[in-house]
Amino acid sequence: MSNVLKCEHLRVVFGGLAAVSDFNIEVNENEIVGLIGPNGAGKTTVFNLLTGVYTPTSGVITLCEKDLAGMSTIARNHEGIARTFQNIRLFKDMSVIDNVMNSFNTRMSYSIAEAMFRLPRYWKEEKKAREKALELLHVFNMEDLANENAGNLPYGSQRRLEIIRALATNPKLLLLDEPAAGMNPAETENLMETIGKIRDQFHIAILLIEHDMSLVMGICENITVLNFGEVIAQGTPQEIQSNPVVIEAYLGKKRD
Ligand SMILES: Nc1ncnc2c1ncn2[C@@H]1O[C@H](COP(=O)(O)OP(=O)(O)OP(=O)(O)O)[C@@H](O)[C@H]1O
Ligand SMILES: [Mg+2]
Repeated sequence: MSNVLKCEHLRVVFGGLAAVSDFNIEVNENEIVGLIGPNGAGKTTVFNLLTGVYTPTSGVITLCEKDLAGMSTIARNHEGIARTFQNIRLFKDMSVIDNVMNSFNTRMSYSIAEAMFRLPRYWKEEKKAREKALELLHVFNMEDLANENAGNLPYGSQRRLEIIRALATNPKLLLLDEPAAGMNPAETENLMETIGKIRDQFHIAILLIEHDMSLVMGICENITVLNFGEVIAQGTPQEIQSNPVVIEAYLGKKRD
């Protein structure tokens, strides 16, 4: 199994406080790994480090053995890292299909002039992109919604569309930040199927932040637990569920 993501001794300090320290993780191709921990543990910060939003104070991030140091968010996306956000980010006034096509746009080969004057290469690429977008929507049973406004979709479908937009950039590693947040049980169930489907059809690596334990325990092969920026446990769902340090971290938080 080849190693897609590797973080070694990752650390970031904000105003003298380490939000993440000595963070190590490996995610392999075709693997779904969970990143869990109480609120404020540093989970989203890890995603911001991986995507180049934050620069680590120290440590190394490699994607398929390539060191990402110094690379911008866009460059990292081209290398193969795509993410969704804790709060949905979509073009709500645009159609579903335009939202997906917009994700392809950074990869189109026509020039701005060709697009402005609607030259043949533009139309050809545009047609290809539309077909590709419909194919992607079809995988997630959303092709019937292609012409709906994204903002009019039910919450669960907006979340799914956000994931599809991330997939449209053809990633090697997909980062999902609390995709089940705000979902009802039926939507969460559906999301679980969607994530499984992504792994089966796209064979990519998935790193998943999630508070919904049934989801995490149900689909992750491996789980890393963060607390106050530090890894307190790593293992299979069974190992994590019965780990006293993990239980204490969660219960300790609830007692506050
Ligand atoms: N840019 C920043 N400047 C200063 N502090 C920050 C910054 N980004 C994150 N932090 C701090 O780092 C800590 C971890 O935040 P983070 O958002 O990563 O937590 P989280 O595990 O994603 O929590 P949640 O489950 O609530 O989303 C918090 O104490 C937060 O205030
Ligand atoms: Mg977060």
